[in-house]
Amino acid sequence: MIETIDVNTASSPYRIGIGRGLLANKEHWSELLNGQLIVISNDRVAPLYLDALRSALPCQPLLEIIVPDGEQEKNVDNWMAIQNQLAGVPVSRDATLIALGGGVIGDLTGFVAATYMRGIRFVQVPTTLLAQVDASVGGKTAINLTAGKNLVGAFHQPGAVIVDPNTLSTLPPRETAAGWAEVIKVALIRDPELLELFENGSDGLQDTGSQQVQTLITRAIYNKVEVVVADEKEAGERALLNLGHTFGHAIETLTDYRKYLHGEAVAIGLVAAAHLSSRLGLVDPDLVQRIKSILSDLSLPTSMPALPVNDLLDCMGADKKVLEGRLRLVLLNGLGQACIRNDIPTQLLVETLEYCGASND
Ligand SMILES: NC(=O)c1ccc[n+]([C@@H]2O[C@H](COP(=O)([O-])OP(=O)(O)OC[C@H]3O[C@@H](n4cnc5c(N)ncnc54)[C@H](O)[C@@H]3O)[C@@H](O)[C@H]2O)c1
Repeated sequence: MIETIDVNTASSPYRIGIGRGLLANKEHWSELLNGQLIVISNDRVAPLYLDALRSALPCQPLLEIIVPDGEQEKNVDNWMAIQNQLAGVPVSRDATLIALGGGVIGDLTGFVAATYMRGIRFVQVPTTLLAQVDASVGGKTAINLTAGKNLVGAFHQPGAVIVDPNTLSTLPPRETAAGWAEVIKVALIRDPELLELFENGSDGLQDTGSQQVQTLITRAIYNKVEVVVADEKEAGERALLNLGHTFGHAIETLTDYRKYLHGEAVAIGLVAAAHLSSRLGLVDPDLVQRIKSILSDLSLPTSMPALPVNDLLDCMGADKKVLEGRLRLVLLNGLGQACIRNDIPTQLLVETLEYCGASND
């Protein structure tokens, strides 16, 4: 079954198609494209899906640009090299770039599309769960600098997004689980029924080709779409999507981005945010246990190694002495609602980090 979601952003509306086999669906592609086509992918995804994509496109790609796999490839050099390749053809302003891959390829391609000739069209074909439910939707594009991740980027909406859950069959289970963490996050901040769907059937999620998985993906995307349409440039509500991320980023930084996938660190961050929310009396303490059990059923971590509390506070931008009134954290304000608080007592934050495994020796 093909499902569609219209994303009516003020700047540039587009449609998301979701369906098993959609990547290779000629009819769907023929309605989307005209003009020159350029596919951008990486050396892990291209061998798996480029043939199928190519055979479904209305015309052969003018260029196929394959970059090496990895987060480190979302860099200035690749961004520049791709633009030079486009200019060398030359690729014209009415061309469409097709991003075939996970969030790294989506962000890199999107940023090239945002800047080449002051902005050309691009279509996202996300092939990881995280990219399907999160990165491909909302128009954020970026590359990394040595000084930090996603420091250079632009808001540039895709012309279309094609989500084919069949691509998840080749994704390592750990990557899939990391994607589910972002879905749990969106459920916690605005869709309690989605949380129940996980509680009632996470066993079936191993089969990524099932209708159940497609249903969860569609619902997660629908939630993200509602948020980004209401707040395209992250002036308000969209910031709530950062639930668990301030904790998660600190954990990723202190473990050198090696121990955890982003979604895994976010999973621990969700437990931390829920615990802190319960200590502030914003949610029932039972919710913390409920979240831990859902995450554990998905093989996601719910606690961290004994990282030093002070280092975590530093990374969170929360110097112990000046914490009060400064650190802005997304917390839960009941199940299905989130809020931003900047009045967290230091001691409660320390207790929360300890609850999640950090060490205060
Ligand atoms: N723009 C946004 O709004 C947004 C939101 C969240 C994350 N991001 C960005 O997304 C990136 C993370 O995305 P990701 O988790 O998709 O990582 P990724 O793109 O690195 O993909 C993870 C791994 O899976 C491989 N892969 C992709 N699809 C596959 C498939 N179908 N089968 C087998 N292997 C496959 C990739 O080659 C890679 O090795 C980060 O750079 C992050 O900053 C962007």
